[in-house]
Amino acid sequence: GKVVLAYSGGLDTSVILKWLQEEGYSVICFIADVGQEEDFNVAKERALSLGAERVYVEDLKRVFVTDYIFPAIKANAIYESRYLLGTSLARPCIAKRQVEIAEKEGALFVAHGATGKGNDQVRFELTYYALNPSIQVIAPWRDPRFFQRFSGRTDLLNYARQKGITMPSGEKPPYSMDENLMHISYESGDLEDPRTPGKESMYKKTGRWVDWVSEPETVRIHFRDGTPIAVENRETGEKEEDPLQLFLYLNRVACRHGIGRVDIVENRFVGIKSRGIYETPGATILRCAHLDIEGIAMDREVLRMRDMLSPKFSEILYYGFWFSPEMDFLLAAMNKAQELVDGWVDVLCYKGNCMAIARESPTSLYSDKLASMEEVESYNPTDAGGFIRINAIRLRAHREILKKVDPE
Ligand code: ARG
Ligand code: SIN
Repeated sequence: GKVVLAYSGGLDTSVILKWLQEEGYSVICFIADVGQEEDFNVAKERALSLGAERVYVEDLKRVFVTDYIFPAIKANAIYESRYLLGTSLARPCIAKRQVEIAEKEGALFVAHGATGKGNDQVRFELTYYALNPSIQVIAPWRDPRFFQRFSGRTDLLNYARQKGITMPSGEKPPYSMDENLMHISYESGDLEDPRTPGKESMYKKTGRWVDWVSEPETVRIHFRDGTPIAVENRETGEKEEDPLQLFLYLNRVACRHGIGRVDIVENRFVGIKSRGIYETPGATILRCAHLDIEGIAMDREVLRMRDMLSPKFSEILYYGFWFSPEMDFLLAAMNKAQELVDGWVDVLCYKGNCMAIARESPTSLYSDKLASMEEVESYNPTDAGGFIRINAIRLRAHREILKKVDPE
């Protein structure tokens, strides 16, 4: 049968490509461009030279920003209070296109190179099944036909040599990376020991700290309905309004100021704790700005409820249920909550940090008159005495009971 393989150009998926052919499949390779640094022509040529019947290189950068990253920003998505979900968001985006290609090609099978111990296998496969209930999945790293043959790196390398799979020479980093335009993750290998910090030379998207600019810089981010619609640099006057371009622009600003590094131990869906290091430059600035525009424009009780839903949204996303009834429900609720979240926020960037320093909103609920000591008709300070005494009723009753049960 025909199989569409999510191909990265790396050693593992190249071995999988050859192996699938040996098992009798005809293989169509799908290379997703989600903004990772990669020579896609080289990867495509490699796949063809290894016997791929056809190779699709698909530019998913714009949909990734508009249909995945921006909705996550609107929801203030963050996993276990720290991880901005860069890989979790990319997987459904990639898998959706893969299923579409399988349908177009009349392929009954899809395959991926994620291991059997991680989150990515779950995210790929839940997306496949959710979008095409009759699709059949090949996960070589969980398939005894495959893993009994390739138990370690040396087996892979030997097989690659046999089959003429040539990988660019050069040092292989002692950890695994997943890169897209939103983030890079680093895990496993040398990083498996949580006592060992990541080396400064590892970081790619947040520069090296010696290079972090020594002057602060302020970017103004404009929102409509909670979606970023423009970014302006207050110093240089540069302006970007295209969603992809504005996101990439924020990545560059955040990079020169070292914004968006996180080093954590997190809980995988499969029950394993895992140490990960992340660089999420632009999205860190966006999240900061978005929280701030909500501060001025969002109703307090809507904000409270949305804040209860954000951890659930993040968990559903992390667990791989992007395409699910519960996520549809939450996305609709989040969009409703963002309807009046308009305006701009100035974010100051400096030495690994960003902070909102000014904002304005056409839908502002903030009133300097109400907040100040000035007299206004709608707020009568003498009413506050009654408001407080009514609220104290419970507290006084409780104190009386305490005195009665324990007179000391
Ligand atoms: N731990 C992160 C997550 O689950 C990153 C996973 C990185 N994936 C990878 N294939 N290296 O979202
Ligand atoms: C993998 O296991 O393929 C990477 C890590 C993860 O998916 O969590």
